[in-house]
Amino acid sequence: METYHDYVIKDGKFIGKFDEMYEKFEDPWTQMKQPNKYSRMSGILHLKNFEITSVLECGCGLGYYADWIYHETKMVPKSVDISSVAIEKAKNIFPKLDFEVANIVTDLKKYNTYNCVLFAELIWYILPDLKTIFTILEENFKGKFLLVNQVFYKGSQKYGTDYFTNLDEFINHVPFTLLARCEATATKDSTIETSTLFRI
Ligand SMILES: C[S@@+](CC[C@H](N)C(=O)[O-])C[C@H]1O[C@@H](n2cnc3c(N)ncnc32)[C@H](O)[C@@H]1O
Repeated sequence: METYHDYVIKDGKFIGKFDEMYEKFEDPWTQMKQPNKYSRMSGILHLKNFEITSVLECGCGLGYYADWIYHETKMVPKSVDISSVAIEKAKNIFPKLDFEVANIVTDLKKYNTYNCVLFAELIWYILPDLKTIFTILEENFKGKFLLVNQVFYKGSQKYGTDYFTNLDEFINHVPFTLLARCEATATKDSTIETSTLFRI
């Protein structure tokens, strides 16, 4: 049977039909339950510990993490996603938060007033554009923060293995100064949850 994964990455190949996926499936990645709580909570701790004052959340999906961030920090993130279907749904679910359609590969530069750029479980979908994105960050967000919440896989990763397969390799890939890192997993889990903060 077809699952939402078929619209994203299938048999190790990037598909990226996010609008169709959000039209067909009510809750891809079980966002409503907010899994990966270690990394989500660590991301919020990074925001608090480094006294971050504004956040651009990239790949916000249905907006549940934006809402969590708001409740913990009182900041309303500017939350963007490439899928207009996801953004419409997010606006309906959380009418008081701030959602907008944007492709961060092409639109990132215009959000450079924000103090912190958060990649919210987004990295696997922008791999071929990562170099370009790092250049845009370097040129437009110098001195600001990059916060990355990302799941890695315990030996079962099929896609993107030529980029990185674990947190250390990811950190080596990022051309910015590491400020803080968190990595956690339960023994029963097949994933490793991470949250890393960099100074751009
Ligand atoms: C794994 S989901 C994460 C959703 C949410 N942040 C969460 O943690 O539950 C990845 C999201 O990234 C969005 N996305 C993929 N490529 C994007 C791009 N280039 N610009 C903005 N959003 C993108 C997808 O539409 C999807 O909603």
